[in-house]
Amino acid sequence: MIKVMGVVGAGQMGTGIAQTAAMAGFEVILYDVSDQMLSNSLKFIKDQLHRGKEKGKWDEQLVVESLERIQAGIKKDPLSVCDLVVEAATENKQVKFSLFKTLDEVVKKDAILTSNTSSISITEIASQTKRPNKVMGMHFMNPVPVMKLVEGIRGLETNDETYNTVKSVAEKMGKTFINVSDFPGFAVNRILMPMINEAIFVLYEGIASPHDIDTAMKLGTNQPMGPLALADFVGLDTCLAIMDVLYEGFKDSKYRPCPLLKNYVMAGRLGKKSGKGFFNYA
Ligand code: 3HC
Repeated sequence: MIKVMGVVGAGQMGTGIAQTAAMAGFEVILYDVSDQMLSNSLKFIKDQLHRGKEKGKWDEQLVVESLERIQAGIKKDPLSVCDLVVEAATENKQVKFSLFKTLDEVVKKDAILTSNTSSISITEIASQTKRPNKVMGMHFMNPVPVMKLVEGIRGLETNDETYNTVKSVAEKMGKTFINVSDFPGFAVNRILMPMINEAIFVLYEGIASPHDIDTAMKLGTNQPMGPLALADFVGLDTCLAIMDVLYEGFKDSKYRPCPLLKNYVMAGRLGKKSGKGFFNYA
């Protein structure tokens, strides 16, 4: 029975996961190395909860109770009581590997460790721990409170009990859970990121402007956001990291990241979070 959920990383994904879990009735322990990230995250959650209440989506009681259920801190020790942890740190192999080694030592032995990785092998992440049968991919979509999907990814050693527990946790959080094999990019990003990358090539080759590329896909294919605005929203560093995983994983040139994407990331144009990407957010 999962009661206490740990969330590692207070970026946009960790924040959304913490909010959704607390609203679903889980006790949440939110951990990050940065105090600033944690206070931004808690403020964002508070604002979102109050905004939802003002719109009549839920009542004051849910706001108060959800906020009470979230405990945040820069120390890993409180994670020891978690029944399940969702790691949502930077999309970087070494960062995730080192976190899983530490989590394996800190978190109680029968707890489940999951990663919100968008593309890194769950089998490889699991092999950093002494409990690979209790490790799984739990891939949420951004913005987590709104998007209905969770991709569930089993590593080679993940057992049925872990799979079924993670599925029921995702469902308790109001999500539709799909079962996806442990292949680079899983299902969503295997399909989505090459489309975004291709949109960047269309810009790079001077075929259309950012505005017209996004208009094409919004009005021409009924997507809620154009691919360039979506790239800015996800973060261009994350998009590049995912394309790199696809390119490395399949050794197929169709996944090569567009040079313009690389340039933007090198320049620090990371999209919405840095104030500038394909569009300006100042
Ligand atoms: N947190 C919580 N709620 C949010 C939110 C956030 N960050 N951003 C928007 N919302 C809510 C709003 O409160 C609003 O709720 P309401 O309708 O009940 O009042 C609702 O979402 C719609 O928001 P807006 O009216 O402000 O704006 P839009 O109608 O333009 O919707 C959007 C915004 C939901 C982000 C929509 O544009 C969309 O669905 N975009 C596509 C998102 C997408 O594809 N996400 C997946 C990315 S891939 C991924 O995450 C995988 C990763 O590995 C890369």
